[in-house]
Amino acid sequence: MTSMKGTYANNSLAEASLNTNELQVTVNGTPQRARAGEPLLEVINRAGLEIPQVCYHPQLGPIQTCDTCLVEVNGELVRSCGTPVTEGLSVRTETEAARRSRAAAFDKILGNHLLYCTVCDNNNGNCVVHNTTALLRVEHQVTPYHPKPYPKDESNPFYRYDPDQCILCGRCVEACQNLQVNETLTINWEDPNPRVLWDGGRPIDESSCVSCGHCVTVCPCNALMEKSMLGEAGLMTDLPLPIFNSAVDLVKAAEPSVGYGPILRLSDTEHAMREESIKRTKTVCTYCGVGCSFEVWTKDRHILKVEPTHGPANGVSTCIKGKFGWDYVNSDRRVTTPLIREGNTFREASWDEALSYIARRMTEIKAAHGPDALAFIASSKCTNEESWLMQKLARSVIGTNNMDNCSRYCQSPATMGLWRTVGYGGDSGSISDIEQAGLVIGIGTNTAESHPVLATRVKRSHKLRGQRLIVADLREHEMAQRADLFVRPNPGTDFVWLSAVARFILDEGLEDKEFLARWVNDLDEFRASIEEYTLERAEEITGISQDVLRQIAHEIVNADGTCIMWAMGVTQQCGGSETSTAISNLLLVTGNYMRPGAGSYPLRGHNNVQGASDMGAMPNFVGGYQSINDEGVRAKFAAKWGTELPTNKGLDNHEMVHGIHAGTIKAVYLKGEEMGLVDSNINYVDQAFEMLEFFVVQEVFFSRTAEFADVVLPASPSLEKDGTFTNTERRIQRLYRALEPLGQSKPDWEIIQAVANALGAGWNYQHPSEIMDEIASLVPLYAGVTYERLEGFKSLQWPVLPDGSDTPLLFTEGFPFPDGKARLYPAQFIGRFEPLDEEYDLHLNNGRMLEHFHEGNMTYKSPGITHKVPGMFIEVSEELARERGLENGRFVRLVSRHGAIKGRVLVSGRVFGKQVYVPMNTQEAPHMVNRLTGSHTDLSTHTPAYKDTAVRLEVLPDMGDSPLPRWNHRYGQPTPQRGVEVERKWRRADYVFPGHLPGRMQLARHVAPELIGGDD
Ligand code: SF4
Ligand code: SF4
Ligand code: SF4
Ligand code: FES
Repeated sequence: MTSMKGTYANNSLAEASLNTNELQVTVNGTPQRARAGEPLLEVINRAGLEIPQVCYHPQLGPIQTCDTCLVEVNGELVRSCGTPVTEGLSVRTETEAARRSRAAAFDKILGNHLLYCTVCDNNNGNCVVHNTTALLRVEHQVTPYHPKPYPKDESNPFYRYDPDQCILCGRCVEACQNLQVNETLTINWEDPNPRVLWDGGRPIDESSCVSCGHCVTVCPCNALMEKSMLGEAGLMTDLPLPIFNSAVDLVKAAEPSVGYGPILRLSDTEHAMREESIKRTKTVCTYCGVGCSFEVWTKDRHILKVEPTHGPANGVSTCIKGKFGWDYVNSDRRVTTPLIREGNTFREASWDEALSYIARRMTEIKAAHGPDALAFIASSKCTNEESWLMQKLARSVIGTNNMDNCSRYCQSPATMGLWRTVGYGGDSGSISDIEQAGLVIGIGTNTAESHPVLATRVKRSHKLRGQRLIVADLREHEMAQRADLFVRPNPGTDFVWLSAVARFILDEGLEDKEFLARWVNDLDEFRASIEEYTLERAEEITGISQDVLRQIAHEIVNADGTCIMWAMGVTQQCGGSETSTAISNLLLVTGNYMRPGAGSYPLRGHNNVQGASDMGAMPNFVGGYQSINDEGVRAKFAAKWGTELPTNKGLDNHEMVHGIHAGTIKAVYLKGEEMGLVDSNINYVDQAFEMLEFFVVQEVFFSRTAEFADVVLPASPSLEKDGTFTNTERRIQRLYRALEPLGQSKPDWEIIQAVANALGAGWNYQHPSEIMDEIASLVPLYAGVTYERLEGFKSLQWPVLPDGSDTPLLFTEGFPFPDGKARLYPAQFIGRFEPLDEEYDLHLNNGRMLEHFHEGNMTYKSPGITHKVPGMFIEVSEELARERGLENGRFVRLVSRHGAIKGRVLVSGRVFGKQVYVPMNTQEAPHMVNRLTGSHTDLSTHTPAYKDTAVRLEVLPDMGDSPLPRWNHRYGQPTPQRGVEVERKWRRADYVFPGHLPGRMQLARHVAPELIGGDD
């Protein structure tokens, strides 16, 4: 039987409160160490005693709905999950009263659940109801099964709710209310027939449910199940309904005579047989930078489900994409064979032909124009090992530093701001630090949509622990709605308010003087650099009132630790690096580094955007941010690789596009990036692609970018390969191959090696672990990383020392500068490149949506996700809608200085005034928002200033449906409450605490005698 004990290393608030002094309790006469305040049930579990615990889940904490964990404490029956440990407790788990009460409580539960395990898709060894029936050796139930008078709800595309199997444990409610904090689920405890409700009683598909799957993951039985499991997991679970009902009737008929024992044994045999065909593989999410990890269950190529258990970044949490967004892996739109262009079409080719063609053309171009006529673009969706090989190919085989990855499109300015000030370009702590902080400030980050699981930690702390939350952004997204203080600075002015707040703090003497004196240089230069940012001037430029600026300053200095999270609203501006620097300066002034629960958190967008840069897929660094200009570094690599490294300045993505237009770049090898949609000013990028002499695109799909290629190489997605990803908290995690590569596709590392060898490199990596060994030998940040140390769910946060010790919190002993001190950097304000004028009178904002990832190439392959968000839209404010006579569904054209797009209007309260918002996902390349964005960039890093675009709006005569269907969660009406609210259950007239149940002897006849006996 699968253990039901709490084994999760969780990051819940309950856990955070346990780090107090150890004390001692006695359990069944044996002394046990315990931590003050932890649930007594945890101590019992650690002692190896098996008692039932149906509603308890370590990551949810005690919810006390099931009463199956009763024990005697100091002679009184209590729920062990809901009893916080105090010194000297005397606990007895096996008294007659405790055993009887637990059995009686579980008997009530069986009144809500039919045990048809043999034909149940949840019979996988982890069903808590099944396992508790076995643990208690229940033979017959006293409480008759009582179906509920409600139909199943199958309206959501991803999961269904079966009230007739729901044991009303409330785990799902607790997860939705207090872990995901979407606040959709409740139980109507006062109803004669309680059930779980979505938005108080709406169909799931029309509720505020964001399909994150938390509820399904924690449901202890089959009441909530992934639809992908139904009829697929079991050997006999795809029975037609009449036959299924007959099978269930058979079980019911057999139970009075044979008891549950033989019935469970039969289902255990069925479970053992299905284990032969179900494979569980640990992987890491392929979407955003939070780095959720989980097991993926597969049966042949069918993905049964994603099961998060104890991921170091996510625990049991996921969002819609990581939990349900995997259809793309088996999409019939996968490229499964190499393709070679012939005129305006492509023909299938063998790998040998494609590789020799690539080798011949690259060699010819290099011979004719030199190595710097070739350019290489790695992918922040691919593994560390693959990014490593791509830059090794560019530098060691071709001999060019023309190498980049898509962090150029989002995160480079954040990295620059951190290098300037604190020396490492990564999150200064872990997600758990954000969770612990006294104050979280989000700037230009739509965290609940772009980093959903990370946002849950903030929402949870804010809701349950009183964490303060300040949001500065243009749109009133979910985090803004939840914030204690929401400010809407004028577009592109964050630098100014940040500098004014820093100046006010210094003027008022509120800075952390001790920290500054001990750990920070250049205070005077910094003070001079922000001299002009008085509160008055800041109000004028940003539109934020002086009072609010003062309030922000006081919130920071009074908080027990401040974390600032920021993303593309900050970085995708001409002054993105400057504003990122201002953020770090403010944190330094207030002493918010070098301590838990504080620091800077640039939220990395793609799953491996951190890793792609760590691996040197950049023009100026060769792995671990070691400068290509450093002779010693080059010598170290040359000795290992046996080739000299190039010294010419390399081009970044942005410069490559200009280089193609200028005729200096002739060939590009790009993998896993949809540059033809996600770069800015894509009309200009398209023209560049057309000018290339030779273009290799390595992709999972025939993407928009692939349309311009000369050769398309079929790559495998993450589920078909081994490797590692590095998430936003610098956490390195392994993924394992769950499926064989489809068709002739191959993992990217194998393809790059094949290309390198076709060019004569003679590489011989047999497995990505060998590539990681090479990385560890050359990159000090990864020095102690090995596949063994990352086995399963283990992870390491860089820097990793040779002995394997890692660094969850950066800067514990100073900063990585020669004197160990951070530097206040005098940054400067860079205004908008495209201010509004008469012709272009609206500000264009753009970004991601929860449901789709980035441009949507993967997520649009999911019918369920596409049902929720079928395409792009143009979101306008109510004010603008009134002014221009716009309504939902009206077609409009947006025109910028760089291009035009057409789309349907969505009127919402999220956008403000003369600002419009266009999500970056689309199925229609002609209407991608980047037809509107320009080629102006952050001055320091060349990150495109996507968020600095002026447009005009032309109203078209056509009218369509609302672009966001009514079954999208944004129309839902959540029902917030403090949790499952079990007190309401306890107040029911028919509720009796099991310890007080009458007629216990009657129950005793139906459970195994030795379970009743007890030790008293
Ligand atoms: S938001 Fe939806 S999927 Fe997520 S926990 Fe709540 S009800 Fe379940
Ligand atoms: S649906 Fe919710 S209340 Fe019902 S059994 Fe599952 S987790 Fe418990
Ligand atoms: S997309 Fe991000 S938040 Fe969602 S499951 Fe994947 S890693 Fe987690
Ligand atoms: S596990 Fe303690 S009440 Fe449910």
